[in-house]
Amino acid sequence: MAVKCPEGFDVESLRELVQETYSSVASDPNGDFHFHRGPEYAVEYLNYDRDELSHIPDTAKARFAGVGNPHLIGEIKEGMTVLDHACGAGMDLLLAARKVGPTGKAIGVDMTEGMRTFAKMATEEAGLSDIVEIKEGVFEELPVDDNSVDVVISNGVVNLSPDKEKVFEEIFRVLKPGGRLFMSDVVVQRELTLEARSSPEIWAACIGGALPEKELPGICAAAGFNENRIVQHFDCFKNTTAEVKVSKDLEIQGINFFAQKPE
Ligand SMILES: C[S@@+](CC[C@H](N)C(=O)[O-])C[C@H]1O[C@@H](n2cnc3c(N)ncnc32)[C@H](O)[C@@H]1O
Repeated sequence: MAVKCPEGFDVESLRELVQETYSSVASDPNGDFHFHRGPEYAVEYLNYDRDELSHIPDTAKARFAGVGNPHLIGEIKEGMTVLDHACGAGMDLLLAARKVGPTGKAIGVDMTEGMRTFAKMATEEAGLSDIVEIKEGVFEELPVDDNSVDVVISNGVVNLSPDKEKVFEEIFRVLKPGGRLFMSDVVVQRELTLEARSSPEIWAACIGGALPEKELPGICAAAGFNENRIVQHFDCFKNTTAEVKVSKDLEIQGINFFAQKPE
């Protein structure tokens, strides 16, 4: 396993801590957190399209906590089935739902009830309930059929899992042959200090579990993807308390990452 749990934490207690953090983001999106949230951050730091975002309800946008922009990685076409494997309150999911349209499907999975509640509310507000399905689950064991998805989108979440290998195996399993992964995540340019890796708080802030950038292609290839590449970097922690605490010294960035399952 490339990145281990903080000392004294097992997978379950780490999951509970992550769930607690994102339940708080769901109930109080303007609260005090180590990371940015919301639509202004999305536009200014991650190049989201302001016009496209104007069609997405504030319910979803206020709780956005991604670290890159999966929509810049490749095209989502009408009629496709798209999965956001940890959709939070659904901003990326609803952007994808508008692209796939009534002949397509947008599935969102998330383990945190508070996030799913707001994702469902936002879906109704956007009038997209016929296209969008929100499911409870974890991305290490997706409640989604084999070979059923054209595009998996992922934003700011793989770093939160202590079992990255399993996450990529699951993405690979649910993608159709030729299916694509549009992933944004946090990476580090060199190995984190043991102190940073050992802090559950830093883990939940999307830093402690971040992969060294150079390890990402190998993990992805081991899951079966034949093509993968990093396409863009983002300064997603600029002006956050995380930057002050750790990221300035440690070269932590958001990335956009593309991978494809063989035909
Ligand atoms: C940093 S937020 C990002 C959410 C969303 N992708 C966005 O861009 O706003 C992390 C989300 O991942 C979810 N999450 C974390 N670990 C998960 C897991 N193992 N399975 C499913 N969801 C998970 C949390 O519940 C939370 O909603």
